[in-house]
Amino acid sequence: MKIKFLLSVSVFLAFSFNALAESSGPEMGALKLTGGGQVSFKSDVQPIIHDYCLNCHIPGGKGYVKSGLDMSTYESLMKGTKYGAVVKPGDSETSTFTKLLTGTNRGLKMPAGLNASGTLDRQYILTLRKWVQQGAKNN
Ligand code: HEC
Repeated sequence: MKIKFLLSVSVFLAFSFNALAESSGPEMGALKLTGGGQVSFKSDVQPIIHDYCLNCHIPGGKGYVKSGLDMSTYESLMKGTKYGAVVKPGDSETSTFTKLLTGTNRGLKMPAGLNASGTLDRQYILTLRKWVQQGAKNN
């Protein structure tokens, strides 16, 4: 009985995770990392921003109100915060857009309040970094 229960729980979980990860979702970008392919802003980067950043970084959202950073379009993302750019094309090390995902900067880490460790999935971080490294194009 116990085994049957565990089985149905895991089947249920597998289905719910599948439902969360739509086929056109952020997963796709990770595939291109291993192949050395070009990361696309529209099909790889935007889905991650949509799922993990837009809650707060859209006019009216907490992150926008505090920093001025609106990530709803390529242009607004490139414009950055009220203090300046967060994406430096070709340099993911110094771009705050990618820097804040792995370490803290003045105590900040993004996405704010995601989970206990506050860290985005590694594959998504790699996708965003690679996009910046490849010149942060509107592709
Ligand atoms: C739960 C809300 C929330 C989410 C989700 C969120 N942010 Fe933020 N973000 C903030 C807030 C609030 C600030 C302003 C922090 C401050 O200046 O004290 C901010 C500021 C920033 C800044 C500017 C930091 C600076 O140096 O001024 C960057 C870059 C940033 N966020 C990137 C991201 C990225 C990338 C994501 C998605 C992976 C993300 N954020 C998701 C709330 C959020």
